[in-house]
Amino acid sequence: MNFAVIGLGSFGLKRAQAIKDSNQGKLVAINDIDQLKVKQAIEKLKVPFKNYNDILNDKNIDVISVCTPNKFHKNIIIDSLNSKKNVFCEKPLARNLSEAVEIYNHAKKSKNIVQIGSNHRYFESVKYAKRLVENDTIGKLLSFTGRIGHNGERLKNSWFWKKDISGGGTLLDNGCHLLDLSRYFLGDFNTGKGIISNSYWKNIEVEDTACGMFSTKHGQTSTIFCSWRLMSGYFFFELNGTDGYINVDGRFDTHGGDKIFWSISKEKKFLSKDFSDVKPNSYKQEIDQFIKNLKEKKECSPSISDALEVMKMIDFVYSSKSNG
Ligand SMILES: NC(=O)c1ccc[n+]([C@@H]2O[C@H](COP(=O)([O-])OP(=O)(O)OC[C@H]3O[C@@H](n4cnc5c(N)ncnc54)[C@H](O)[C@@H]3O)[C@@H](O)[C@H]2O)c1
Repeated sequence: MNFAVIGLGSFGLKRAQAIKDSNQGKLVAINDIDQLKVKQAIEKLKVPFKNYNDILNDKNIDVISVCTPNKFHKNIIIDSLNSKKNVFCEKPLARNLSEAVEIYNHAKKSKNIVQIGSNHRYFESVKYAKRLVENDTIGKLLSFTGRIGHNGERLKNSWFWKKDISGGGTLLDNGCHLLDLSRYFLGDFNTGKGIISNSYWKNIEVEDTACGMFSTKHGQTSTIFCSWRLMSGYFFFELNGTDGYINVDGRFDTHGGDKIFWSISKEKKFLSKDFSDVKPNSYKQEIDQFIKNLKEKKECSPSISDALEVMKMIDFVYSSKSNG
């Protein structure tokens, strides 16, 4: 499976390395509009540059990995689908719901696949939580509550602060991971609302803090808090079930403190597992699974429909009356 990566910033380099590390994927071309980024990436990755149209027209390229700022996701995804390429696009799918619907409609008409990056699904603690839930360890799920964030320093004065390029702030940057996980565990949320604010980074075009509350049609709830002023790598969520409780805890840096605690009501005991010693490789694992699904012609996860549902949840928050 031959990949081209478009966008060679801090995340594009990580994604490119994950593709190179994957046993089944091959990185054959890279692209960025910034020639300095291209030069540095060629030195690091030892993969040739190709211009955009040549990537689209290259019959040898099976997958385009989109790692550009959010504003460019829509056009690159649609161009890629029109050129009969599969797409692996970094979250969020788009800047807003109307762009997301446009992409979704194109993807549904295409024989090719669009998957959105959601590497948190591949954290050891999250995978373990998923297995506990699937084995019915804590019964029927009633609620998800999560918190996520980082200190925001890396984004200072970058495109992440510009609404026209990003579409929004912390909710699109990291809150979307919690929304994806809420759905991964509990399914579709059909109502929701939220509050956005700027508690630390002032005079920027997007929010640095967001809270959201959502409900499924069965009355299960998700509440999330995300911020650009938390400890770097902060990640935490809890699942409450009819027969127990799970707590996934990366509060002291996800990539160094990946832990899970759970309790089964009738046994009245607490259990835990610590994955701190496992070298993080969620980016590679999700690329491996993406390739496997493509080869076996199975639906990718998160699918384009999953990504659209996350964008609907984001829209519930941004369109809440309290946000003016
Ligand atoms: N999965 C995750 O956890 C995760 C983490 C960080 C970022 N991301 C996502 O990855 C994407 C990139 O974020 P980043 O932090 O790497 O940003 P970045 O600013 O570090 O890099 C973006 C790169 O894209 C290039 N670029 C801009 N427009 C382009 C175009 N039209 N064609 C080709 N290249 C173009 C820029 O020159 C830059 O090198 C964003 O959508 C972001 O939300 C995902």
